[in-house]
Amino acid sequence: TDITAFAFGLPKAELHLHLEGTLEPELKFELAARNGIELAEKTVDEVKATYDFTDLTSFLAVYYPAMRVLQTAEDFHDLAWAYLQKAKEQGVVHVEMFFDPQAHTSRGVPFENVITGYRRAALRAQHELGVSAELILCFLRDFSAEYAMATLMEALPYKAWILGVGLDSDERDNPPTKFADVFARAKAEGFLLTMHCDIDQVGSIDNIRAVIEEIGVDRIDHGTNIVEDPALVALAKERGLGFTTCPVSNSFVTSQMKADEIVSLLREGVRVMVNSDDPAYFGAYVAENYVALANHAGLGPADLARLAINSFEASWLTPARREAYV
Ligand code: ADE
Ligand code: ZN
Repeated sequence: TDITAFAFGLPKAELHLHLEGTLEPELKFELAARNGIELAEKTVDEVKATYDFTDLTSFLAVYYPAMRVLQTAEDFHDLAWAYLQKAKEQGVVHVEMFFDPQAHTSRGVPFENVITGYRRAALRAQHELGVSAELILCFLRDFSAEYAMATLMEALPYKAWILGVGLDSDERDNPPTKFADVFARAKAEGFLLTMHCDIDQVGSIDNIRAVIEEIGVDRIDHGTNIVEDPALVALAKERGLGFTTCPVSNSFVTSQMKADEIVSLLREGVRVMVNSDDPAYFGAYVAENYVALANHAGLGPADLARLAINSFEASWLTPARREAYV
């Protein structure tokens, strides 16, 4: 079999995708022109030349400043709509998309612009593409817990449009417990919970233990350092916890894809699946991540099919809707 054709054709859910990480240089230029913003880089190649990441911090230093071209609800719609069309081509039938409202409210863009633009694209995807699309609100962990709580309060009027909450940005000195109260309140409001446990961070395994045992998350983003603690792996397996891994992203923010860890969890029967994280920056959408992992780790069609099944089983689709896919 041609593994690329197989990977693209495989119906899959994408569960770890930052909408702000789908901003391609071409759309960045279009939005900058629309909003009268002058950009330092004048060509796509010049923009791509700045994608010289060695770790999470150096990635985030390029990622956040790029967002200033996003201002109106239409801009947010156009960003998400471009991604959703691309996702359809990659075999995605369901997606749970992260968005970072504080990356916008912190520079004066109203929360309403962000959520209404993204929501409109999600509805349009259902109607025009047959792709089911949901939103997960992420708090930026390098801001305060108070700002996260205020953001949660701002989101409550839009609760019906938001499936769950997550935690992203720089993990160093910002452990999960910093947000224990915010996540307890989010859970009480009916949101599902996930948190990033980025690869090879200081105290990674302790943070993974805390998100499972203290926060009580419904899923973990990245989190493959869990292989360091077999007892914790056993617990994650017993609970059916999903791990949203991102092989190509891993190769940018660390020096490796972390294929051994991903495959080890897959073989143990843990619910791992493959996602793209920030595809515009890492140069690979979700099917391309399946192909990269398959080529690197020698996986065949049966393994890729298992990853795709895991993507539905770890999704936050209701059981009735999940049945349509697995
Ligand atoms: N924001 C966007 N991508 C991220 C990642 N991989 N880790 C943490 N924060 C992020
Ligand atoms: Zn991420």
